[in-house]
Amino acid sequence: MIRNSTTRRTFMGSIATALGVAGLRPSFNVFAQSREGRQVEPGVEHPEEEYDNMAKLANNENCWGPSDTVLKAMNDGFKYSNRYRYPDGGIVEAIAKHHGVKPENIILGAGSGEILKIVGEAFLIDHKKCVGVDPSYDSVYRYVTNSKADAIKVPLLKDYRMDVPGIIRATKMNYRDVGFVYICNPNNPTGNIIPKQEIKFLLDMIPGDVPVLIDEAYHHFVSSPDYATSVPYIIEGRPVIITRTFSKIAALAGMRLGYGIAPKELIERMRPFNSGGLNAVVKYGGVAALKDTAYEKKIKQMTIELREKTIKGLRAFGYEVIPSECNFFMVNVGRDVNQVADDFKKRQVLVGRKFPPMNDWLRVSVGTEPEMTKFMAAFKEMFPAGGIKHAKKEAAAS
Ligand SMILES: Cc1ncc(COP(=O)(O)O)c(C=O)c1O
Repeated sequence: MIRNSTTRRTFMGSIATALGVAGLRPSFNVFAQSREGRQVEPGVEHPEEEYDNMAKLANNENCWGPSDTVLKAMNDGFKYSNRYRYPDGGIVEAIAKHHGVKPENIILGAGSGEILKIVGEAFLIDHKKCVGVDPSYDSVYRYVTNSKADAIKVPLLKDYRMDVPGIIRATKMNYRDVGFVYICNPNNPTGNIIPKQEIKFLLDMIPGDVPVLIDEAYHHFVSSPDYATSVPYIIEGRPVIITRTFSKIAALAGMRLGYGIAPKELIERMRPFNSGGLNAVVKYGGVAALKDTAYEKKIKQMTIELREKTIKGLRAFGYEVIPSECNFFMVNVGRDVNQVADDFKKRQVLVGRKFPPMNDWLRVSVGTEPEMTKFMAAFKEMFPAGGIKHAKKEAAAS
């Protein structure tokens, strides 16, 4: 069973009690959260009731929520909600053990997004540049710009694979200016991987002192035998920084916990930028999530089943989809996705934003079965059978 309502009720009861003490109710919308979890002005996104009724396929979350053991652990962690210096369940040690590294190789963040931001702050001093593919996880390039630096973006290959020789070339050509290389593996938004042999080739070919940031946010969803985590390179002592998150497979996006793994020297360069702003509850949830491998397996299996069923349905309807190893995929809708996303929203379906230059490709996250059914129904209402050629003809005729 994915859901245990008693545990869920107890946990939510604890939240309500905690918020009650502070004089707030969960429905009192003090801050809304933007797509990437940044705080935005109240009311900018959807009010609670409207949001709850929508199919949420825009942000690659885990639609089934955290496991019962994680909920119980977080519930137990609430007893420290009034403390600063509290026993934290041994989260750093648990992560280090999980990866076969030392606690000194781990840095925690309020989501892996915080670590990605810190890498920009720590390694792009003096206007250094970041090299990466385009499109990729665009928040990294935004952090780079915020750090008053720049990104050298290497286009994807014609078949949407990441251009590893292109990244090597760009890094070598700009060697003096490069602060770090960014690789999202598997890549968001395309959902495909860089095979392990190509990662090795990349690390062997670029100058040995250039840090490589490898974002493994979607690691747990990959099935391809050609993929492998890059953690062993850190154990070898190479200048590799890996980020992982509890937001995806562990379903803790709203609780904010992620981490970086790297050689000690690189972690030490990053630590001064760390906010330390984690809550007690999620640390307990993280420790429990690392142990709950049965839940991970179940989520992976359900995700893949629904992803493949939806992709098959879209292809049968005539639309091109990029094969994905993640909890999302991209479909070519043949027109600007901002407008398409608005049309989906009118049908109570939230889908992904635009990822230039793939302006006609819509990113769709895997949701529950009813959510995917709702998505397919909306898709068939909005697009004609037969694919984008028919859609373009219809648009021209109207
Ligand atoms: C590739 C990638 N990296 C990092 C993140 C940040 O996730 P979080 O800050 O919730 O760990 C996301 C979020 O969607 C992502 O897609």
